[in-house]
Amino acid sequence: MSILKNYIDGKWQPSSNKKTFTNINPAVNDDVIGEFAASSPEDVDSAVAAARTAFETWSRMPAPARGEILRRIGDVLTERKDELAFEMTREMGKPHFETRGDVQEAIDTAYYAGSETRRLFGHTVPSELPNKFNMSIRRPIGVVGVITAWNFPVAVPTWKMFPAIACGNTVVFKPSEDAPHSGALLVQAFIDAGLPEGVVNLVQGAGEVGQALVSHPDINAVSFTGSTETGGKIAEICGAEHKRCSLEMGGKNPMIVLADANLDLVVEGILWGAFGTTGQRCTATSRLIVHKDVQDDLLDRLKKATSGLRLGYGNEKDVDVGPVINQKAVDKILGYIEIGIKEGATLAMGGKRITGGKMDNGFFIEPTIFTGVRRNMRIAREEIFGPVLSVISISSYEEAVSIANDVQFGLSSSIYTNDVSTAFKAMHDIEAGITYVNGPTIGAEAHMPFGGVKKTGNGHREGGWEVFNFYTETKTVYVDYSGSLQKAQIDNT
Ligand code: UN1
Repeated sequence: MSILKNYIDGKWQPSSNKKTFTNINPAVNDDVIGEFAASSPEDVDSAVAAARTAFETWSRMPAPARGEILRRIGDVLTERKDELAFEMTREMGKPHFETRGDVQEAIDTAYYAGSETRRLFGHTVPSELPNKFNMSIRRPIGVVGVITAWNFPVAVPTWKMFPAIACGNTVVFKPSEDAPHSGALLVQAFIDAGLPEGVVNLVQGAGEVGQALVSHPDINAVSFTGSTETGGKIAEICGAEHKRCSLEMGGKNPMIVLADANLDLVVEGILWGAFGTTGQRCTATSRLIVHKDVQDDLLDRLKKATSGLRLGYGNEKDVDVGPVINQKAVDKILGYIEIGIKEGATLAMGGKRITGGKMDNGFFIEPTIFTGVRRNMRIAREEIFGPVLSVISISSYEEAVSIANDVQFGLSSSIYTNDVSTAFKAMHDIEAGITYVNGPTIGAEAHMPFGGVKKTGNGHREGGWEVFNFYTETKTVYVDYSGSLQKAQIDNT
């Protein structure tokens, strides 16, 4: 099934200017996923208008009734997990076991957000006056623009859309131009679960479509996952127009390995954290900050384990690591590998595009490890978004934390140690939105807050309870049942 159109007001429709763009399989480049609508500003207008109309009814529906629809969406995604995962792998490259996990995260989010509709609580507190009742209630915000990346083409859009619609908002969703098919299949699941027309609308396209969406006067809030650069532009527009925006951007996530760590566990953690999703996660483990006493031993084991990773098309059997997303990503990652070599780091492993035979038909890059990296090098500071690990040697916990914190990002982090006191200290000392103890930097759970500090985010969290604060406005209500005019804030002293 290849859905090529936008979905606006309950109808699949081509873009008003009939323009399209092509998307291909990053592992098998001559496999064309489809031609997708390249939306115009008029399409964005229609989608926002449909969402605005649907808001009138959707926002008035009892929240638990909205939750019931979310539960059905979870059921449909459960039934389709395998076929959806197949199409996601075909479109964005990560292996089938990973795309199944991506869908599972969406299922968990559907059930979680659905059940929270019974708990969208405000507060009741005593009034300072007699016979008066004070409370706060939550109101939806309106129409939300959702703009997402391609690496979690189902889970991340649902982190945004499910709590948004649970709270009574309606949505215009623009998936990445590298994952339009997955976005369309996700929306098809919503339709089949009985989501009313206009509650979620889909517009396909690249950056200019996102820009039209963010600056549309009838969009009330924006939730974005993507690059720090684009997030900055969105924040400027939203700032000027007084719109709420939630930004999830880059990472340069450290894994600290102390001398007392269980090295077998560390090796497994690095393989998953650094090379899972081919390193293309904002949470990827991209810096290994390792104590000098265990560094050589760890690197020996790590190189051996990394050379056992099987690269290939993720819908084929026994593939551990897929391709990177497109030619631009190949160029960027190889560019960083060149920078690392020029900066004087040691290329300990990998470093090349894989060619020959079937590999020529895909965007495959060897899992790459740099040793001898110093904190001021660009490969230790900038987000590469690929299978490149920078190893930095340290001689104390304090030095490790100082290096971990010495970057502009602060999304995820990890520490391996068997000393409980050091682990608890690290929870406070590491500047990041997430810290894992004895686990790699990836693996968020749907009911836990997700987000970063510093230039990774702008103070909001997805997932967990916190996200419901983003998607609601608080209304304060005073009920005076005294039968007389009571004046608050009167100084009677
Ligand atoms: C992202 O890479 O944009 O926990 C977010 C994790 C993933 C994060 C996805 N679910 O690593």
